Amino acid sequence: MINMNNNLQTFLNLADAVIITDVEHRILAVNTSYETITGYTSEDIIGKKAGILRTPYTPKETHQAMKAALNAGSSWSGVFTNRKKNKDLWHSSITITPFIVEETAYFVGVFRELEQLERGFYLDDQRIGRIQKSLLKVLAISCEIRDPSIESHLSRVQNLTEQLVVRHNERNLLNLSVKALSLIAHSSILHDIGKSAIPEGILYKPGPLADYERKIIEMHTLIGVDIVIKIYAELDDELFESELSTAKNIILHHHERWDGTGYPHQLQGMDIPLEARIVSVVDVFDALTTKRPYKEKWSMELAIQYITEQKGKHFDADIVDSFLSLYEDGMITIE
Ligand SMILES: [Fe+2]
Ligand SMILES: [Fe+2]
Repeated sequence: MINMNNNLQTFLNLADAVIITDVEHRILAVNTSYETITGYTSEDIIGKKAGILRTPYTPKETHQAMKAALNAGSSWSGVFTNRKKNKDLWHSSITITPFIVEETAYFVGVFRELEQLERGFYLDDQRIGRIQKSLLKVLAISCEIRDPSIESHLSRVQNLTEQLVVRHNERNLLNLSVKALSLIAHSSILHDIGKSAIPEGILYKPGPLADYERKIIEMHTLIGVDIVIKIYAELDDELFESELSTAKNIILHHHERWDGTGYPHQLQGMDIPLEARIVSVVDVFDALTTKRPYKEKWSMELAIQYITEQKGKHFDADIVDSFLSLYEDGMITIE
């Protein structure tokens, strides 16, 4: 034990786990609670860097925010998921305060265990994203399993949506977060989920549709929203809350048109949510360039020409420009 000033010694008498480090985060002292909780004895741990307990479950940003606050001389509180000596995870909220004693700076960290997290663990954003993505894909495919070509359509729509939303965000300086971008890309796979409730005879009918048949097909937007609301209510997890509103916007509005002649709500222009305006361009492009029971496959040139002509009519002109810029960069291919 280093020779520690009385002020610092007082902290070690607290009932909570306490750690004292130098400004390089090298451990100078820990108290008995710390030893009991982590399984490390003072001898094990003194002189080591505090980071030895670190796990990938604590987001990088948490460590960055902590260092920034401490370097600025202020105290910091946050949640860490650390690892005990026996490799178990340890979730705790920690408050770290810089202390200056006799012209030397120390960091004093006081941990509070988070009871409710004992059985769970933190997921970093990337992992959450990956889990959401595969869950949504399974969901979308299983709902539309009757059509063997659907899986490739959904994957193409998802990939192209991802490219388009990223490009559009850059070109129009929309400042969307990485999370928002991937939310739109991931949710796009659900756009036609409501088709699971439409009779196959109508859905895959070759040739023109009767008026009432068209009305039934148009219901896939409303039915789809109903389906996701039920699924998300079942999941009942805030992890999926923002996902739900993005998914709902895409499912409900991907057939709206910029000029207000779409369905189901005849929304116009910017009243149509951005995510729906984006998916709409991608969905139409993919539908044109693939063979369907009722139509032949269009060439790339013809499809691009159609999309261009529909600027300000079917589609948001700015989004079409972003789409065309992807095309000019050779990033759009068809099978
Ligand atoms: Fe649709
Ligand atoms: Fe579609």
